[in-house]
Amino acid sequence: MKTVVSTNRMFLGSMVLVVAVTAALVAAVLPLARAHHPAIATGVAPPIAQVRGHGPAGARVFVAKGCNACHSVDGSPRVGPSLYRDFGTTVTLDTGATVAMDEGYIRESILDPRAKARPGYPAVMPSFAGLVKPRELDALVAYIESLR
Ligand code: HEC
Repeated sequence: MKTVVSTNRMFLGSMVLVVAVTAALVAAVLPLARAHHPAIATGVAPPIAQVRGHGPAGARVFVAKGCNACHSVDGSPRVGPSLYRDFGTTVTLDTGATVAMDEGYIRESILDPRAKARPGYPAVMPSFAGLVKPRELDALVAYIESLR
């Protein structure tokens, strides 16, 4: 009887181990898969579907750097403003001043998000200075411009 119980315990123990290892593997592989397949990250049509011109590279950076966690590209609300049809508009800042949503504003928002803040949004965007290469920054700008 005792051996049966301990065998059961061992079986249970190994099952728990198998589940834990599987979970760890999924957790390790999913971010990699996401970086290569944006559709996995968004669940629906990836940003790529809305990309024109120089977009695709920028869309990949957008997903790889986690921008899509806070910014939608279809107008739906997230923590940060949707970047859909954002480019070319006039943005009102929390100081009441207005600024053109142009290339310069996009670059500054990415490298120094605190510089100009919008009312109604939490100051949670991290600076990506040093985290995006110049060519990734260019690609992001082109992508955000393409979302018009
Ligand atoms: C943790 C959430 C978060 C992440 C991640 C994030 N942002 Fe933001 N972002 C915000 C919030 C919130 C604002 C608005 C508040 C502000 O102005 O600081 C903002 C503002 C912006 C703006 C200005 C938009 C406007 O209309 O004023 C741009 C452009 C932008 N982010 C681009 C990006 C890019 C590109 C990335 C990835 C490299 C990124 N963000 C990552 C939260 C985030």
